[in-house]
Amino acid sequence: MYGRTKGRKLSSKQVFFLKNHFGDLAVTQTCIKNYFKKLNKFKDQRKGGKKLYLEIGFGSAEHLVFIAEREPNSQFIGCDYYLNGVASAVIKITEMGLKNVKIFHGDAKHFLQLSPDEQLDGVYLLYPDPWPKSKHYKRRFISDTNLDLLSDKLIKNGLLKIATDSKLYFDHVNLTIAKKKRSKLFGFESNDFSTPWVGWKETKYEEKAKKAGRNSFYMVLKNYKAEKKCF
Ligand SMILES: C[S@@+](CC[C@H](N)C(=O)[O-])C[C@H]1O[C@@H](n2cnc3c(N)ncnc32)[C@H](O)[C@@H]1O
Repeated sequence: MYGRTKGRKLSSKQVFFLKNHFGDLAVTQTCIKNYFKKLNKFKDQRKGGKKLYLEIGFGSAEHLVFIAEREPNSQFIGCDYYLNGVASAVIKITEMGLKNVKIFHGDAKHFLQLSPDEQLDGVYLLYPDPWPKSKHYKRRFISDTNLDLLSDKLIKNGLLKIATDSKLYFDHVNLTIAKKKRSKLFGFESNDFSTPWVGWKETKYEEKAKKAGRNSFYMVLKNYKAEKKCF
């Protein structure tokens, strides 16, 4: 983990919600297996439309709660290691009465590593930290290794949606997709990167980018991975 795990001192409201409501929403390293076991109880229903989506680095969680409220029959899990963001998410989820969202407080890479394969219908990565200095580029979430992980955990034809206001990060994603043999399993759904996908909800970081006069890039990647064969 390279980013901040804590910021400003938590408000008393944040402390209260973390103490009293986070327990019900948290998926921890030790209970990931159970989480998926429970989810798979409704696997048949998932085939009938119920889906599972992951949001990596949800920040203040405005996008996470928006999509969860819009699709009450689907399940959502958000990963972030920033405690202040987790506290905001817990407040929003609780106050909105959402029953279909869980939180993993930690590194999304770790969550993916601990998850069973081919479970995720879609993944959102919105305004990931761009790490612009060349000496830090290995810290970027999109890497050859993480694309492999994402491809394994997404279902076939599952979508990875990435938004960024950094041209550097946009080029980095393109290059990573193109460079590595296995990463070619992902393909762009469209070459129009300036138009947000249908159902887009502005995030706090997009708002910041707009105020600073920066345009964003919206990328939708399909997981073309062939279905696993059993030998
Ligand atoms: C630039 S902020 C964007 C927040 C939000 N997505 C938005 O658009 O407003 C990046 C967020 O990703 C989180 N983050 C970065 N790397 C992460 C990782 N490996 N696992 C989980 N969260 C991560 C940070 O803590 C931060 O909250």
